[in-house]
Amino acid sequence: MSKAICPGSFDPITLGHVDIIERAAKTFDEVVVAVAINETKQPLFDREARVRMIREACAHLKNVSADSFCGLMVDYAEAQGARVIVKGLRAVSDFESELQMALMNRNLNANVETLFVMTSAEHSFLSSRIVKEIAGFGGDVSKLVPPNVVPVLLKKLGRGKGGCPADANE
Ligand code: PNS
Repeated sequence: MSKAICPGSFDPITLGHVDIIERAAKTFDEVVVAVAINETKQPLFDREARVRMIREACAHLKNVSADSFCGLMVDYAEAQGARVIVKGLRAVSDFESELQMALMNRNLNANVETLFVMTSAEHSFLSSRIVKEIAGFGGDVSKLVPPNVVPVLLKKLGRGKGGCPADANE
């Protein structure tokens, strides 16, 4: 049985992530979407919230589950019995850091292969960081994140259009 890991920060999951996960789910028997816990990063959403949002957003994909891990990606993949890491590539700007990570992961464990999936054109501009910025300034994120994520983002960040100090645009 083929098993793949889709790792990431997922802070929060976007429609770009869902696109990559759906395509991984068509290619592998089983896919684990894994939230990487990095103590040096300050995520907006805690581990449980990020895993919950992924579970809800991927509920239509019966061979997909969500989990979280702390430590090295390749160690997690091995412990899960997965030999493939699936990652999305949006633009040339992603390439350098992804290449570095893929080469380092192979250096750490040559039994785990990284496969890249090109993002769909409509998602090539999308990132969790930009989604949080838009939501923070009261913009519409309903076409950028799964429906279950919209209210969670608004509750956390939604300040309406008045997200700026009164004199900010003077
Ligand atoms: O969504 P992101 O932040 O681009 O995902 C990056 C992630 C989580 C996939 C990467 O940082 C990772 O694999 N972290 C786990 C720790 C690890 O294995 N680091 C060595 C990678 S070379």
